[in-house]
Amino acid sequence: MSPGSDEPGPQGKGTEGNRTVDHFRYVNGVLHCEAMPVPDIAHRFGTPAFVYSARTFTERYDELAAAFAELDPIICYSVKSCQNLHICRLLHERGASFDVVSGGELSRVLEVGADPSRVVFAGAGKTDAEIRQGIEAGIGWFNVESQQELENLTRSAQDLGRPVRAALRVNPDVDPETHAYTTTGKQETKFGVDLDRARDVFARSGRNNWVTLSALHLHIGSPVDTVRPYVEAIRKTLEVIRQLRADGFEITALDIGGGFGVDYETGQAPSLADYARAIVPLLRGAGLTVIVEPGRTISANAAILLGRVLYTKQSGARQYAIVDAAMTELIRPALYGASHFVWPVAVGEDHVPSARKCDLKLPGTVQIDVVGPVCETGDFLARGRWLPPVTRGDLLAIFSAGAYAFVMSSQYNSRPRAPEVLVEGDRARLIRRRETYDDLVEAERTATHQ
Ligand code: LLP
Repeated sequence: MSPGSDEPGPQGKGTEGNRTVDHFRYVNGVLHCEAMPVPDIAHRFGTPAFVYSARTFTERYDELAAAFAELDPIICYSVKSCQNLHICRLLHERGASFDVVSGGELSRVLEVGADPSRVVFAGAGKTDAEIRQGIEAGIGWFNVESQQELENLTRSAQDLGRPVRAALRVNPDVDPETHAYTTTGKQETKFGVDLDRARDVFARSGRNNWVTLSALHLHIGSPVDTVRPYVEAIRKTLEVIRQLRADGFEITALDIGGGFGVDYETGQAPSLADYARAIVPLLRGAGLTVIVEPGRTISANAAILLGRVLYTKQSGARQYAIVDAAMTELIRPALYGASHFVWPVAVGEDHVPSARKCDLKLPGTVQIDVVGPVCETGDFLARGRWLPPVTRGDLLAIFSAGAYAFVMSSQYNSRPRAPEVLVEGDRARLIRRRETYDDLVEAERTATHQ
């Protein structure tokens, strides 16, 4: 198969089962991002680096839009998953709106020309300054998470003389069966207002001249690899909407949040069509504008983290590949025990992976821990994987590094943040340069005593 061809070849085009999840694939044993050989990118931009496929972003966005088309939803891409301005612009041009959770994210989406009246502003702890910023920008919906926040929003809107619209985030007490740290829809988490207290919040603050409280918001967790929790949460919420309407409130919108699972490993998550098949019938004819907030769905498989092997060594019974990428670039394995598929960028034909499975064990492979240079034992990218033998200088790809990767990166150990590179067909361009040592100390040099 030739690079850039649409035809699924023997290794598919990032084809997982029968599904295309992205545009990273091996051609003659060399990993390509779209039509660009990944080694060329390493040569040009150095390592570690994030390499994004533009086409993967737009295809995943289109796939979601098509799956939920019957509801004609407002698709608010969740900026927190991958916030680069160039990515936001790409998705804006494709028709996406945005879900933001801070003044910083709001300023990003305004910079790319988003229509603020279609933007949702979420977050359990918006500051007064952020609320003012949102009001002045003309935000579509403030997703409020407490009675106090609602009162604060009302005061701010009144002070500024600018009426606003809000959704009440409810906590449906549904288990999304994901990591405890990213579970948000269970009662024992800090998010939203208990479902059975929603009517009370509406009764106390739902009728005022400054905040039109006319929507409910849900986000149960992330990633949610099954459909059932969505069905349960939406059913429960629709019942409350029915009661609120009976109380005389006009409820015009429901934001069902994000969190749809993706294939970190082949076949891990339902397809977007599967989620839609279960969710659309619940909302059909409900008289609601539907808002959806996908982040990882669109961004996770759109990037690899590219690293180079610095050293290999054996210690006790374990083999290590020490690479120049680390927990500073991808904290998900250390923080959540997350598994990312890792594979060398250039391999013999017999070592082209047939599927992205972390337990893949091809003949002639050796068991390796892939670790970074950071001074912590928790600094690993993958442990106990069967990889083709790697040596100093080899490139490794850490797959599915588009979501919650660069955005959660740090400068720990005074490591400058890695560059982000966007590939479009056979072209690659820098969309965030590698940080310099000057960047590391700039805010310290310019600090003044106040
Ligand atoms: N809406 C709200 C209100 C959210 O809090 C989130 C994610 C999303 C939408 C988007 O979820 P997504 O479609 O991207 O799954 N750092 C963790 C994930 C934290 C998710 C935070 N909220 C990770 O690396 O898995």
